[in-house]
Order: sequence, then C-alpha cells, then structure tokens
Amino acid sequence: MSTILELIKKETLRQAQSIRLIASENYVSQDILIALGSSLTNKYSEGYPYHRYYEGQEYIDEIETLAIESAKKLFGAEFANVQAYSGSPANLAVYFALLEPHDTILGLSLPAGGHLTHGHKVSISGKWLNSISYGLTPEGHINYEEIEQLAQAHKPKLIISGHSAYTRQVDFKRIGDIAKSIGAYHLADISHISGLVATGVHPHPFPDADIITTTTHKVLRGPRGALILTNNPELATKIDKAVFPGLQGGPHNNNIAGIAIALEEALAPEYTQYCEQVIANAKALGEALKSKGFTLVSGGTENHLLLVDLRNKNIDGDTLSKALNSVHIETNKNSIPFDTASPFKPNGIRLGTPAITTLGLKEADMETIADFINQVVESIDNTDTLAHIKEQVIAFITQFKQY
Ligand SMILES: Cc1ncc(COP(=O)(O)O)c(C=O)c1O
Repeated sequence: MSTILELIKKETLRQAQSIRLIASENYVSQDILIALGSSLTNKYSEGYPYHRYYEGQEYIDEIETLAIESAKKLFGAEFANVQAYSGSPANLAVYFALLEPHDTILGLSLPAGGHLTHGHKVSISGKWLNSISYGLTPEGHINYEEIEQLAQAHKPKLIISGHSAYTRQVDFKRIGDIAKSIGAYHLADISHISGLVATGVHPHPFPDADIITTTTHKVLRGPRGALILTNNPELATKIDKAVFPGLQGGPHNNNIAGIAIALEEALAPEYTQYCEQVIANAKALGEALKSKGFTLVSGGTENHLLLVDLRNKNIDGDTLSKALNSVHIETNKNSIPFDTASPFKPNGIRLGTPAITTLGLKEADMETIADFINQVVESIDNTDTLAHIKEQVIAFITQFKQY
C-alpha cells in the first residue's frame, strides 16, 4: 500500500477516536465519499451545463443541473452557481463580479469573528479593495449601530454579513436595510450557518441580501466546495462569468456530484432534526461549561458554536487547545472580542457541535464532554492524568456511529 493510503487510514482512525469540536468540520456520508473518489475526477468540463467546450458531458451536465436545482430548492433561490472551488474563491468571485479594484467594502473584522475574505489586510479582499470593518458590542453582539455609522461615513459599494466565529443570530434585515439606504449590495456569507438557514432554524438572508455565498462542507455536511445564490438575473449572469472564465477553469465534477448528494440529504426531514439537535447540543454544552465556571462570549449561543473566554481560568487558548488535542478532543484557539493577546496565544477557544451531532451525540453527552474539558484544564501539567483522560475519551467517542 502506498504511503499516502497508509496515512489516510491513520487519519480515518484518528477522526474515529476524537471528539471533534471544530465548528467548521463534519463527517460526510458514504455516498459522498464514493462520489469524491469516482471517475468524475477524470473529466474536464469548462463552461456550464449544455454549454461546454469539450465533448462527453452528457452525465456531467445532468449531475451539475441536479446540484443547481437542489441548491435553488434548499435555499429558495432563483439562481445557483455550484462551481466555486471553495468558500474563499466564491467570495472572490462575488467581488470580481460586482466591484472594481479599490472599491470600498464593509465586513465584520477578523478578531470580532469575521473571515479573512471579508476584507482582512492579508487577504486579496483587503489588499485590492478598500476594506472597512465593523465589530461587536462589549456584550459580544454585532454592533449594528457601528455598521450604520460606517456605511454613512464611507459609502461602501458592498456590505458583508456573516461570520466564522460568532455565537448569535444575524439580523440580515437590519444589515440589508442599511445597505439599501446607501445603494450598496448586501452579500450574506452564511458558510458557517447555511444548514441552519436552509432548515429555518436561523433567519434567512433572502430577501434582505442580494447574494448569498456558502461553503458546502460545514454544517451543510457536504464535500469541500461552495454555492453562490441570488434572485437577481443580472447578478446571476455576472457571477457565472466571474467564476468561469473569470477566476477558474474546469469545475471539480467529483465535488459537484458530492455537493448534489449533500443538498439532496439536506432536503430530507431528518436533516432538519439534525440541525435542531446541533443547536440543542451547543446550548447544552454551553450550560454544562458555565456550570463548571467557564465564561462564554455573549453569555451563550444561538447557533452551532461557542466561544469560551478563558481569562478566569488562567490558561490561554493555545495551551488549552494543544492539551485537549493530546487527549483526543479537537478544538481551535480563537481570539475573543477585544482580545489584547496575540492571535497565536489568544484568550479563547472555539467549540462547535456539527460533527459530534452527526455521530448521534445528544444533550446528556455534552455534560460528559464539558467534564472532560474541565478535567484537562485542572490537570494541565499532569501527564498521567491526561493519559487517563485520553483513554476515557477514546472509550466514550467510539461508542457512537463510525464514519
Ligand atoms: C464565513 C466564511 N467564509 C468563507 C470561508 C472560506 O472557506 P474555504 O476555507 O472553503 O475557502 C470560511 C471558512 O472558514 C468561512 O468561515
């Protein structure tokens, strides 16, 4: 067996023996894994269904059309592009479709929970565009008044809503109204919450956003990729041109097939129950952590993720996430709002429930997980205790459905 296949086996086992609390990760179904490893990867298909540059597209056209139709149905959109290679290129395609270099955009800042592609200075979105950022209130909620003031002062051409590390529901209507008042476009990047939006457990950006982007591989539980959705035919044409030929060449047909399967799975009633459970588990994990003296940014959660403010625990997010990883609990270090520490040693960790909910964990299991986390904090320098916790974690998580 090649070294790579050996490493894949090891990674599969590692995932099976870990409590995976990274808020942007999940487990895809066996059908999706089959699609990803299929003959579709052998095919070039530049263009769009029934308008391609190469022959031999009869099945590829059908697959991409099914993906588009399911995306439209799931999100109540008139137009869907399913070809963007991932979330970052999808956002870039929207900027390429709507903006000129140096145009002004307004998005949530990275330290407040936004994404790099929402205008951070290390991203092309912050280098080639004039990027202005909004933040949070001291209570950890989006500062809508600040958005309004910045919009009036800077007149951005595009306002971005959406986030990578924010625990409350987004008021898309309020942001849409601000955008309308200054004649700006409103892009809702719902990468983190698209499953919750699709199933109605989080408010929908339409009709208050002009365009929605989302990755397909987080709560939505598909393979890596992205959707760009709109109800505006003019914008739809511009977006299609921006994706191909503007930014990309041949679409990744195997991923598009996997996305089509994920969307079909998300249209089934069980997926709504799954999303409800994701939120119930996040709330239960938050309450269990609070009962052990942990502080949560914004006091709790209304979605699938939690931000733990570690300042009262005398430990930084880097040290804790590494110690948790050593006992097979995967999290990521994360800045907390107004964090004065460096992003390499921030004062928080981010926890999410999408992956563990796919395995079938319920509210009562969140008590067990909170207990493991608390034990790690209390035994941070005790290697024997950590080794014992690791054994308990593996015994606990391997009781659940395996992927
Ligand atoms: C809100 C948001 N947008 C875009 C992206 C980028 O997606 P990708 O990593 O697929 O490029 C992410 C990924 O974390 C995200 O959280």
